[in-house]
Amino acid sequence: MVTSSAPGKVYLFGEHAVVYGEPAVPCAIERRARVTATEREAGLRIHAEDLTLDGYTVEYTGTEGDHPDIDVSDSLVEAGIGYIQAAVEQARDAADRPDAGFEIVVESDIPLGAGLGSSAAVVVAAIDAATRELGVELTPEEIADRAYQVEYEVQDGQASRADTFCSAMGGAVRVEGDDCRRIEGVDTLPFVIGYDGGAGDTGKLVAGVRELRAEYNFAADTVTAIGDIVREGEAVLGTSDHEALGELMDFNHGLLSALGVSSRSLDAMVWAARDAGALGAKLTGAGGGGCIVALDDSDETLTALRYTPGCAHAFRAELATDGVVQE
Ligand code: MEV
Repeated sequence: MVTSSAPGKVYLFGEHAVVYGEPAVPCAIERRARVTATEREAGLRIHAEDLTLDGYTVEYTGTEGDHPDIDVSDSLVEAGIGYIQAAVEQARDAADRPDAGFEIVVESDIPLGAGLGSSAAVVVAAIDAATRELGVELTPEEIADRAYQVEYEVQDGQASRADTFCSAMGGAVRVEGDDCRRIEGVDTLPFVIGYDGGAGDTGKLVAGVRELRAEYNFAADTVTAIGDIVREGEAVLGTSDHEALGELMDFNHGLLSALGVSSRSLDAMVWAARDAGALGAKLTGAGGGGCIVALDDSDETLTALRYTPGCAHAFRAELATDGVVQE
């Protein structure tokens, strides 16, 4: 029996612009998915609990091909099971054991479907646990690559490498197309996350930015300007100047807002964080709903978000310097 864990992530800078070849900086957060893999005679048995959505929990015990009898959207459950099945296939392939059977137990404290990279964290932890259980140890880079293949397959080719690379490596990472690397020397970032309990439609939001960019030169310039913020942010990250980072986060949120991907609840949370004294705050991920990330090492932002109408859940999540680890 092997248990591995892997972190979720926020975008410090660069979502949406990364689609057009600009760099982005996702950061791993101390909210983790834990997967325990135990070899069994044949087949695959999955037990998932604590996949906490706002207010209820997904509990699933079943074998390959089964459908669970629970009251959450089918797509969410099927996607969850699909990710685990594909991760197990990667482990079987890596260990050259195509018929290996597994019992897989998944626990996660990353809210599902909130843009915090929960599926990537589950896949990364599952590949690590299942390969180790078969006596094979992959490097974090190899796990990231196999996890990306899983997301690519399950998400019909709509995956970027950001979530899986960040979860496998931990810390702050830089992603530009297929070129992914860890940014060294970043030890602490006091993140506070506000979640409105919903999620935007990533496909629609990405399409909306694409249309604006095609229609207006100034929208294309806005995308390029986000890339400039990322490049500036990378330089600042090495200096631990959190005030400058916060200023760049605020700027990045303004440009995302101009591109039409913020929402009333995201803006309300961003402003609550700023009013409470956060060094900076921005939406994270595709937008339209979901999460904001603020930078504040005091308790003020967390308290303010908890009283903000439209904020369903607020929590602190430091930068996770460890990526995938065996527990
Ligand atoms: C969504 O989490 C991030 C986007 O940049 C889309 C992508 O990179 O695939 C909006």
